[in-house]
Amino acid sequence: MSYKAFVFFCLYIDLAKGLITSEIIASHNYPVEVHTVLTRDGYLLDAFRIPGSKFCQQSGPKPAVLFQHGMSASSDVFLLNGPQDSLAFMLADACFDVWLSNSRGTRYSRRHVSLDPSDEAFWRFSWHEIGTEDVAAFIDYILDTTKQRALHFLGHSQGCTTLVVLLSMRPEYNKLVKTAVLLAPAVFMRHTSTLSQTVFRSFIMAMPDKEFMYHNGVLNKLLSNVCGLFVARVFCTTFFLISNGKISKHLNTSVIPLIAATLPAGVSSRQPKHFIQLTDSGKFRPFDFGILRNLINYKSLEPPDYTLSNVRPLTPVHIFYSDDDSSTAKEDIQNFAARVPEVVMHRISTPGWHHTDFVHSMTVADVINKPVIEIFRSFERLSSPTFL
Ligand SMILES: *[C@@H]1O[C@H](CO)[C@@H](O)[C@H](O)[C@H]1NC(C)=O
Repeated sequence: MSYKAFVFFCLYIDLAKGLITSEIIASHNYPVEVHTVLTRDGYLLDAFRIPGSKFCQQSGPKPAVLFQHGMSASSDVFLLNGPQDSLAFMLADACFDVWLSNSRGTRYSRRHVSLDPSDEAFWRFSWHEIGTEDVAAFIDYILDTTKQRALHFLGHSQGCTTLVVLLSMRPEYNKLVKTAVLLAPAVFMRHTSTLSQTVFRSFIMAMPDKEFMYHNGVLNKLLSNVCGLFVARVFCTTFFLISNGKISKHLNTSVIPLIAATLPAGVSSRQPKHFIQLTDSGKFRPFDFGILRNLINYKSLEPPDYTLSNVRPLTPVHIFYSDDDSSTAKEDIQNFAARVPEVVMHRISTPGWHHTDFVHSMTVADVINKPVIEIFRSFERLSSPTFL
């Protein structure tokens, strides 16, 4: 990037830094609602809902869709390609009831009935708890609010991890999920080779449970002057975008400043630590606390594997994956697919298709979004109306 482009980039970030999900939705003239959901363990999480679209002509009940974002992202990630190319807007246009969740610790979900984000105890969670508690609470809340019996699920990366954890740990949720569409699911991680697994690995593993990469958090406080803020954002954005050591050639570059303005949205250090453990063990299992605490928590020296044979939503699981994704490598995805009872595989063979391309590529509308909408629609066509 040239010096001039860099300065422009920084200014753009500054202009965009106030961006929040509800404003992004409203700025494109869609209705938006904010809902706060309470988990069993006391976290208060915000979900944004797009209940309609002027392009949806039919009346009657709209099937609900739950979106679950990846690590360090938030509900924003599904909107940044704009109204023509983002799945959330396209689904609203296609007469679905769109719900964008935010996991604990992200910029919209930093409240708890008794804990404060400045308490260490607030951050004692991984994507395990996001799955068993947060996703469960969102599903319960959405079905209760819409009076529907089941919903569609769309996850990207860690968003998929959390659903798989939920369905394996609390299998009673399977019957509440009509379709599960998993974009680049992070399950087995043996072949992952991203920066957090290599360059930053020992730094991450040495961290206690605490807030990691919040866009107004630790990094920005360290670099307290204005330029420091820019540097922190640029650093974090680059961190998010780099896959295979370079930024994807398919990326919609207009999205970069918007990513910088909204990411990273907040993560507990236990989340990347837990992923690194999966790379080391080659297994898909809960957090490894060390022998002593494993014995107390799991009654075994090592964490037990998640039971993937429990993952049985109402229809086969749809897995989208690519040959060139170094975050969720195809070998690991195939290993996962072989252990889930029923799957439909969608392979993206486009060379250089990276992890973030599933949400931010120039061709995402045709390659991902339209096929996903068709999966949801075909369920609705084939199922009896009693599901609504
Ligand atoms: C790229 O992103 C910009 C900014 O959101 C959006 O306006 C544009 O429609 C997007 N284009 C494609 C092809 O995704």
